[in-house]
Amino acid sequence: MLEVHKEQNIKRESVARTLLVAFFVSLVCSSLVASAAVVLKPRQVANALLDVRRNILEVAGLMEPGGDVNELFGSIEPRIVDLETGAYDDDIDPEEFDSVRAAKDPKQSVAIPPDLDLARIGRRAKHARIYLVREGDEVSRIILPVSGYGLWSTLYGFLALEPDGNTVADIVFYEHGETAGIGDFVTKDAWRADWPGKLVYDEEGRVRLEVRKGRAAADDPLSGYRVDGVSGATLTGNGVTNLIRYWLGDHGYGPFLRKVQREGP
Ligand SMILES: Cc1cc2nc3c(=O)[nH]c(=O)nc-3n(C[C@H](O)[C@H](O)[C@H](O)COP(=O)(O)O)c2cc1C
Repeated sequence: MLEVHKEQNIKRESVARTLLVAFFVSLVCSSLVASAAVVLKPRQVANALLDVRRNILEVAGLMEPGGDVNELFGSIEPRIVDLETGAYDDDIDPEEFDSVRAAKDPKQSVAIPPDLDLARIGRRAKHARIYLVREGDEVSRIILPVSGYGLWSTLYGFLALEPDGNTVADIVFYEHGETAGIGDFVTKDAWRADWPGKLVYDEEGRVRLEVRKGRAAADDPLSGYRVDGVSGATLTGNGVTNLIRYWLGDHGYGPFLRKVQREGP
């Protein structure tokens, strides 16, 4: 009888000990993971900023292989635009402005009426940070952040316009979740090469720029507004058309670009 009791006590003790060891091991591991996340956070933020800057330099036409991103970024001037009036708002510091947080904050953002929400983003910030590429006193390009839904995901990119506020200089998509080998044509240089020189607005000021499968004949008046789509990936292409139509339209950068067309950037 005494033997059985002894055995049961030993069993209970060894279970308690195992649980205690497991508890301490998980405590140590979770503390290690948590402190690694805290320690690495500033580096992640710096890398994300560097990546955004690299993409801006790319559409600015200033990225050089092996170039120092932060140094090259010196000729880029970030500005805040009030999207409703189209005027610059210098009361907001462009370095401090967080477009993602602003778009989520009801005070700093607006709901996009469903019939206007071509890009399917739901809300947008009242302000946007745009970038002016400076060459001496002159602005050589205007860079606009754009985003919108493709087939599976929200695509994020930068569209660069010439200082006339109507001619495309370049475009880059730096983040998306479209299918590799199908919808990821948006990141391919060959497709990107079709954009420079295309026009955004027609003579009545309507956004005409679009992605459409099949090259328009050179004498077709719409060829100047049309970027070739990709067969088998029409839905991502439609997403790009929709986000362009939204962001360059009246609810997006329309008021700002009309001002640029009248007064210059
Ligand atoms: C697994 C899978 C992934 C797909 N991914 C994409 C995609 O990322 N983008 C896209 O436009 N179409 C994608 N498609 C194809 C679309 O469903 C659709 O067929 C295509 O966009 C239509 O283009 P088309 O009219 O040129 O054939 C995918 C299809 C499958 C089966």
